[in-house]
Amino acid sequence: MESTKWPAISGLVIGTVLLCRSAPTSFAFDKPTHTSIAVLASSAAATFLLSRFLPQDIATSHQGRQYDAVPLEDVGQPHGSREPSPVREDVRYPSSLRKLRILFLVLVAAICIRLETLREILENTQCAGLSWESLIPLILAIWDYWTVQRHRKQAEAEDWDHSVYDDLEGNAVASPYRFLVAAGIVSLSSLLALSNTHSIESTYICASTLHHTWLVPAFQHAGILIDVSILYCVSQLLHQQQGRGHRSVALQFISIGWALLFSAIALFGVLSFYYLTAGPPDKKRLLAMSSFLAIIGFATYFYIETASYQTGQTHLTPAFRGVSSWFYIMLLGLFIFRTSMWASHNSTVTYHPIDLLIYDAARHHSAYVNQTSASTTLNEAVANYKERYNRYPPPGFEHWYEYATARNSVVIDDFDSIHRDLLPFNAVSPETIRERTFKLTSNPWHDAAGVSIRNGKADVSPNVVATHRWMIDGLVEMISKFSEHLPDMDLAFNLNDECRVAVPYEQIEPMRRSSRGIGISDDVPRNEFSTERGEQWKTVPEEANDERVLKEMSWQRTFYDFGSIGCPPRSPARKTRAWNLGRLCTSCVFPQSLGAFLGNWSTAADICHQPDLANLHGIYLSPAAFKASHELYPIFSQSKTHGFNDILYPSAWNYLDKARYEPTPEHPDPAWYETNNTLFWRGATSEGVSQGFGQWRGMARQRFVHMANEPLNESSTAPPQPLLVPKSEHRLAYAKVPTKDLMTVLSTDIHIVDTIARCDGRDCPQQAAEFSPLVPPTDFQDHWRYRYLLDLDGAGFSGRFLPFLASHSLPFKAGIFREWWDDRVTPWEHFVPLDIRGQGFWATLAYFAGIKGEIRGRFVEVEGHDVAGERIAERGREWAGKVLRKEDMEIYFFRLLLEWGRLTDDARDSLGMDVEAV
Ligand SMILES: *[C@@H]1O[C@H](CO)[C@@H](O)[C@H](O)[C@H]1NC(C)=O
Ligand SMILES: *[C@@H]1O[C@H](CO)[C@@H](O)[C@H](O)[C@H]1NC(C)=O
Ligand SMILES: *[C@@H]1O[C@H](CO)[C@@H](O)[C@H](O)[C@H]1NC(C)=O
Ligand SMILES: *[C@@H]1O[C@H](CO)[C@@H](O)[C@H](O)[C@H]1NC(C)=O
Repeated sequence: MESTKWPAISGLVIGTVLLCRSAPTSFAFDKPTHTSIAVLASSAAATFLLSRFLPQDIATSHQGRQYDAVPLEDVGQPHGSREPSPVREDVRYPSSLRKLRILFLVLVAAICIRLETLREILENTQCAGLSWESLIPLILAIWDYWTVQRHRKQAEAEDWDHSVYDDLEGNAVASPYRFLVAAGIVSLSSLLALSNTHSIESTYICASTLHHTWLVPAFQHAGILIDVSILYCVSQLLHQQQGRGHRSVALQFISIGWALLFSAIALFGVLSFYYLTAGPPDKKRLLAMSSFLAIIGFATYFYIETASYQTGQTHLTPAFRGVSSWFYIMLLGLFIFRTSMWASHNSTVTYHPIDLLIYDAARHHSAYVNQTSASTTLNEAVANYKERYNRYPPPGFEHWYEYATARNSVVIDDFDSIHRDLLPFNAVSPETIRERTFKLTSNPWHDAAGVSIRNGKADVSPNVVATHRWMIDGLVEMISKFSEHLPDMDLAFNLNDECRVAVPYEQIEPMRRSSRGIGISDDVPRNEFSTERGEQWKTVPEEANDERVLKEMSWQRTFYDFGSIGCPPRSPARKTRAWNLGRLCTSCVFPQSLGAFLGNWSTAADICHQPDLANLHGIYLSPAAFKASHELYPIFSQSKTHGFNDILYPSAWNYLDKARYEPTPEHPDPAWYETNNTLFWRGATSEGVSQGFGQWRGMARQRFVHMANEPLNESSTAPPQPLLVPKSEHRLAYAKVPTKDLMTVLSTDIHIVDTIARCDGRDCPQQAAEFSPLVPPTDFQDHWRYRYLLDLDGAGFSGRFLPFLASHSLPFKAGIFREWWDDRVTPWEHFVPLDIRGQGFWATLAYFAGIKGEIRGRFVEVEGHDVAGERIAERGREWAGKVLRKEDMEIYFFRLLLEWGRLTDDARDSLGMDVEAV
């Protein structure tokens, strides 16, 4: 066995490391039962294969030998010992075949039950508590002590030349408590590590009204007992088979036993490693201590084992005999490395991260304004356009310029969002674009409305459903302001809130690349659209065409098919899964965060590094309406998430003032210091449809409401949230504060109105119970009483944000939908951004509102930042009055449609406007 020992140990180590690396993001947990079956089957196959290559005479060469009942001594070394074991009479094994059968059946049943509990735990990881899995070595050691060690006589020292040291060593090694001590230290250290790393939890809802709250922890504890019985059965089977001496059978069982044991150890390692590596920066000392203890524990174990072997205390070849000093040096090095990493990671700060973010935002904003209003004449605007987009401006640009300057548009040069949206369409022929527009609008099933522009007049195509008529009428009203300058064309508008077109990265990226390469030609461009464009567009027939070109995905998961398809194939969103819903995916949050706060709003919208969003937003979990395509269909939408290729246009909802900022004498908009120092939100559960599979627990609206409303009469189920509190005079440190405490020191009023919408089956009563009390809707103008207004995505963008921005209140915005104005408005300068996961929610509110009250029994008082808050609110209001007016919507739309006119023109490559041509 000497020859197989090191390959086996190396295999274990390498396998464990590989598992640790891939497990947290593995696809395997999508279908835990399938995976388990595959794993068990392949393990079995592997063991059968292995048993063919094992030497066949093992069982015979040790005929009549007996082994200790306890697997602890077996771990790492089997039946290959060359030392004859001392035959012991005091341990009895069941020896009949019947007992063996029972053992075997129990083992199989235990494995199946274990997998079932595992599946239940995986499905509701957000309810999982601290795992006590690490106590298993200790349980085994106690059992070993009870059944074996205490019966063993201590070997007498026969040699009289022993030094005192040798005596001590002999005593330590021979002590019946030796394994108990080593296993105890190992268990304690991992328990310590687990309890300290356990607490970065996600906001995924573990509803206090559901049975998962107690069932999942119960399953976790039951799982440990099952694990112990699995280990017991395996060890008994191994010994019994060896005792019976049937060669081939023995070999099979030995191998199966080994496979199970090793996979159990590997899994256990994965779990521990995963919890260890995902640790928060605080508690570093405890973590360091736990890893120190773990190393001591393992070292003690190796030492005892080696020493027992040398002094003849054990009949087994120790697995780690001959472990030389380099091994200890390696462990020590690892320990010093980890500890210094922790030590150098300082968890206290001397300034508040939000101060820095606000400072940065001001610079960012002034740079934006500087570059977008650089042109003061038409000639400069044309030159700027050519430099930015490497094209001539579209025909009719001079009319647009005149239109924009006549309305005092601040934004003249930076229309990058139009450029980004339209760029890939340069790779689609005008004819195809026209054909696709016709296909979309001719079948009402597509939920796309057609608008035709003919001879400078905009008109609605037939077949628009009555409920959405207002939207198209608003659009036509907007377009009519400038339609005299537009060429003849048809447009397809998305009637749903959800976005529609996501072309896979592998196709869209070459299209973008080829479009970027077009450039400015030397020919003088023609500043005039082609004539006879009108006939090129097929007329939408009165009766519906029934060809369907979109894929129906309503009420289904859309993340993997559509949400992430626009990301590079090697990006985490496409390559990995964030299956552990109970934990905050730190690698997903890190790129856009500064501590607990959202630092980069545009990175936050990029889902490619955020696979966890698959379970954290209604659009990805279960959208109410989702008819979408992987082909580049030209459709105009009000908002979209990252990776979609819809063309953004200013929403008619805002243009028609469907939600209006209009304070009245009964509902005034008071000055900052007269408002209620509360964060306010009212809304419906309309983000997505929860039709009975519990999807509501991941939706952003529900998560925020849950996070802000821990039922005070229940045992706490919302995870504690980070808060930045003063540690000493000039230092701040993060503390995890239970929601109950947060609710007493900070004021929020965040509730779902009326009834639970968009639900079915058990999800309706469950949500009603979780979010009770549901409140009656309030007058929209009532918002201005509150100092802080929360804004959350709905099924699409939030229609309230622009009125919020226009008010004296300070909007807090969390969302992944982006609209046409996204480049114009700067987070931390005009509004307060929040991560969609909500982890910085309370800490951000605390910065502005201040803290006053008891936190974990200690009185804390922190001044709020009213000056900064009021300044952001006022700057947002002022800026919205400059760049988000209705005129600005028209200006944006005008420019977008001029560009679209060129794109759909057969002569598009020779069209353009140049200064000399005017
Ligand atoms: C403003 O823009 C000009 C170029 O248009 C640049 O030279 C200048 O440095 C910018 N100023 C600031 C403050 O960014
Ligand atoms: C956000 O990140 C992007 C990409 O890393 C960067 O270009 C941009 O400047 C950042 N924005 C801010 C406000 O820091
Ligand atoms: C502020 O609003 C909260 C929540 O709506 C309410 O409970 C509280 O009474 C209000 N305070 C004042 C001073 O109006
Ligand atoms: C907690 O409060 C809710 C409503 O406020 C009530 O329906 C529920 O029965 C209460 N639970 C307990 C255990 O008191």
